Amino acid sequence: MTTAHPRSVAELRIPDGVGQTALFVAWQRHAESARADALFRDPLADWVTGTLADHRDMRHCTGMVREMLGEVPDYPEYFAIRTRYFDDRIEAALRGGLRQIVTLAGGLDGRPFRLSCPSGADWFEVDLPDMVHFKRSIAPLAGLRPRCHWYPVAADLTGPWLTELSAAGFDPARPTVWLVEGLLMYLSDADCDALLASIRQAAAPGSRLLLEHLQAPMLGEFGRAARARVESQGAHWLSARDDIPEWLARHGWTGDVHAGDDPAIGHGRAVGPQPACWLVSATPA
Ligand SMILES: C[S@@+](CC[C@H](N)C(=O)[O-])C[C@H]1O[C@@H](n2cnc3c(N)ncnc32)[C@H](O)[C@@H]1O
Repeated sequence: MTTAHPRSVAELRIPDGVGQTALFVAWQRHAESARADALFRDPLADWVTGTLADHRDMRHCTGMVREMLGEVPDYPEYFAIRTRYFDDRIEAALRGGLRQIVTLAGGLDGRPFRLSCPSGADWFEVDLPDMVHFKRSIAPLAGLRPRCHWYPVAADLTGPWLTELSAAGFDPARPTVWLVEGLLMYLSDADCDALLASIRQAAAPGSRLLLEHLQAPMLGEFGRAARARVESQGAHWLSARDDIPEWLARHGWTGDVHAGDDPAIGHGRAVGPQPACWLVSATPA
C-alpha cells in the first residue's frame, strides 16, 4: 500500500475488490444529489463521480452503473432512502446530546463532510487500509473539510478492530452512534456475529445502533443480477438474513426494523423491490 498522499488525481490509486463497491454507492448518492427534490446533497459523492468516473480504476464501475440505470432506473431510490434514514437518526442522536459516532466500513460516505455536527463531535470511520488512504487523499483534492473531528481508522473488521479504534481515541465510556451500512453482506455470518458482539462490548449505555442488512432472497435467484454486478467488481455477498429482531436480541439490542421499501420511511418515494434490505435503528436492550 502507498503511504504518501497523492497530490493530484493522476496519482490516485482507487481501491479494488470490495472497495469498488464504495464507488457504486457514491454513484447512487450522486444520482440523488442531482435531483431537484434531493433528500440530501453529497459533495464527496459528486466529486468522486464527477472527477473519477473515467479514471482507469473506476471505468468498470461507471459502465456498470450506466448500464444498470438503463435496466433498473429506480435502483438509486433505495440508496437515497437508506442514506436519509441514517442521516435523520444520526442527526437526532446528535440533537439528543451524543457526541461520538463510529462508522464501520466508512467507504466513501460523505457524512462527516456534509452533516452539521455540534462542537465536540468525534467521528471515527473504520475501513480497510487502502480505502482509508484513498479517502484521506481525496478529501483535500475535493476541497472538502470535515465538519466534526474526523478520525479515519485503518482496520479489517473481521479482525481485532476495537484495538485500533481505541488507539485512535475512541472512548467506550461515551454513548456512541454505531453505523453499519453496506457492510454486513460482505462478511460471513460468523464475522457478522463477532462484529455485533464487539459493538455491544464497546457500547456505553445510551448508545444507538444503526445498521443495514440484506434480505435472505437476495442470495437466491431473486438477487442473481445484483449479485452478478457485485461479483463483477471483485466482491461477494456472503450473508443475508430475515430474522433481524431475534438476531439483534441475541446481541443485546432492541429497536425498529424496516424493509427498505417500507412507505413509512420512504419520504413519498416508491422504492423498487431491488435491492431488498433491512434498515435498523436500535438501542441496548
Ligand atoms: C458498499 S461499501 C459501503 C461504504 C459506506 N458504508 C457507504 O454506505 O457509503 C462497503 C465498504 O465496506 C468496506 N469493507 C468490506 N469489508 C471490510 C472489512 N473486512 N473491513 C473493513 N472494511 C471493509 C469496503 O472497503 C467498502 O468501503
